[in-house]
Amino acid sequence: MYLVLISILSILYLIYLIIKKEKNLPPGPTDYSIPIFGHLFSLGKHPQETLLKWCQNRQSDIIHCYFGQKLVIVLNNYDLIKQAFLDDNYSARAQPFIFEEHFHGKGLTYADGERWLIHRKFAMNTLKKFGMGKHFLQDTILDELKDIFLSIDKQNEKPLNIKGLLTHGLSNIICGFAFGQRFSHNDQEFHHIVSLIEECFTLGSHDSWITIFPLLRFIPTQSLRGNYKQFSKNFKEIFKFAKKLVENHDENIDETKDYIDEYLKQANIDKKSNKLDSTFDMDQLITSITNLFIGGTETTSTTLRWAFVYMIENPQILKNVQQEIDSYMNNNKQHNLFIHMEDKEYLPYTLATIFEIQRCGNIATLGGSTMHRNLQATTLNGYNIPKDSYIAANFYACHVDERYFPNSDQFDPTRFLTDDHKPIQRPAGFIPFSIGKKSCPGESLANMELFLFFSNFIRQYDFHAVNKNEEINSKIFYHTSLTRAPFDYKLSFRKRF
Ligand code: HEM
Repeated sequence: MYLVLISILSILYLIYLIIKKEKNLPPGPTDYSIPIFGHLFSLGKHPQETLLKWCQNRQSDIIHCYFGQKLVIVLNNYDLIKQAFLDDNYSARAQPFIFEEHFHGKGLTYADGERWLIHRKFAMNTLKKFGMGKHFLQDTILDELKDIFLSIDKQNEKPLNIKGLLTHGLSNIICGFAFGQRFSHNDQEFHHIVSLIEECFTLGSHDSWITIFPLLRFIPTQSLRGNYKQFSKNFKEIFKFAKKLVENHDENIDETKDYIDEYLKQANIDKKSNKLDSTFDMDQLITSITNLFIGGTETTSTTLRWAFVYMIENPQILKNVQQEIDSYMNNNKQHNLFIHMEDKEYLPYTLATIFEIQRCGNIATLGGSTMHRNLQATTLNGYNIPKDSYIAANFYACHVDERYFPNSDQFDPTRFLTDDHKPIQRPAGFIPFSIGKKSCPGESLANMELFLFFSNFIRQYDFHAVNKNEEINSKIFYHTSLTRAPFDYKLSFRKRF
C-alpha cells in the first residue's frame, strides 16, 4: 500500500519537474542534480572552487545549478557580474531561511525594494556624516589599535591567537559609530557577543541542509539539524544585545552624534509630517544596526588574519613592506609612532600588498550576504533568468581570472603597481567589496581599517607563527562558511623598537 503511494507521489513529482522545467537556462554542471537535493551533495567544502570548476568544464562563465530546489545562476567573470549588478533588477537579496528567520526582510542586508532603497541611502549618508574620510574616525581606529598593541605587549611574546583582539577592536569601531559607545577588553558581556559573531561566521552557510529544508529544524537529530540551533541562538543573543543598547541610548536628536540619534531624528520628522508609510521604526533600526555590526566585524578581522598568513608565507614581501614603511617614517615622521591615512600615498607597495591580500584571501563567499535575487524574469548573455532566481557572483573566480591577474596563484603585490612602482593600479576585475548599488556600504571604512591596522602592525612588530610553518599554507589552511577564513593560528609578537 505504502509502496504504491510512494510510487504515485514520485511519478507526480517527476511530472511536476518536467512541466516546471525552465527553458533556455544557462548550461548546467556536468554533475547530476538529485531530485529535491539538487547539486547540494556535489558542492564540496569550498563551493566557490567547485562552481569555478563546473564553469570551466562547461566552458561557460555563466551556469545554472540547484541548491535544493532553488535555482541558482552562477556568474563567473567580472563582465557578467558587472552587467547584472549594475541593473536594479538584480538588487534584491537571496532570502535563505537561516537569515530570513531573524531579519524578516528588514534592515539593510536582507531588505528589498523601497525599504532597502530608503535605509541603504540613510545608512550611506550617516556613515559619511560620522566617519568616512573624517579625522574623528581615524582617531577612533587608532585608539582601538593602541589598545590592541597594549594587550599584545602584555603577552611578552607569548603566543596568542590574534582573532579575539582584532574582532573586539573592529566591533568597537562599529559600536562607536552606531551607539556612540565603546567597550573595554575586560567587558565580559561584549566579549561574549563578539565571540558569538565569530562563531556565526563558521557555523552558517547558504548551502546547509536546514536552509534548503527548514522543517529539519524540528528534528532532534544533530546530524540533520547541523549547526542550526547554535547559529539561531547566537543570532537571537546578538539581536537582544543590540536591542538593549538601542533602548538604553539617550535620545538626543538636536545634536546627533551617532547612527541611533540620526535615525531617531528621521523617525521624528516622519512622525511630525504624519508620514503613515514611514519605515523608520524600532525593528528596522535594530536590524540595520545588527547588519552593520555583523557585516563590519568579522570581514575586516578575517582579512587581517589572512594578512599575517601571507606575510609569514612570503618573508621577502614582508621585508619589502617593512623597508618601505621604515624608510618613509624615519625620513619624514621621526616623532610620530603611528602611520596615518595621509601617509598612504607615500606607501604604494604597502597598499599594493593589502590589495593582494584581499585578492588572494577572497573572503566573500556565497555563504555570506552576497547572493542576489532578480525581481523580474529577464535574460543575461542570451539565457533566460527566471524571476526570483538566486544570483551567485563568484568573486573567487574573478580574482583568479588570468585575463586580469596573470599567474594568479602567485602572491605578487607588484601586479597592483605601475611599471615605475608608483601609483596603484586597480584592475577592473578586482572586486572584493562587490560592485553596483548593493555593493558593500562599509568599503571606505574597511579600507581605512585595513590600511591603518596592517601598516602599523608591520611597522611595530616582528611576528612568527607557533603553528608549524607547513600548517600555515594559504593554499590549504582555510575553511569556507559565511566567509573564506584561515583556520586559527597563534603568533608570537616582538616589538621592533
Ligand atoms: C574587508 C572588509 C569587508 C569586505 C571584504 C566586505 C564585503 C562585502 C560584500 C562582498 C558584500 C556583498 C555585496 C553585494 O551583495 O553585492 C557586502 C555587503 C555588506 N557589507 Fe561589507 N565588507 C567588508 C566590511 C564591511 C564593513 C566595515 C561594514 C560596516 C560598516 C560592512 C557592512 C556591509 C553591509 C551592511 C552589507 C549589505 C549591504 C546591502 O545589502 O545593501 N561591510 N560586504
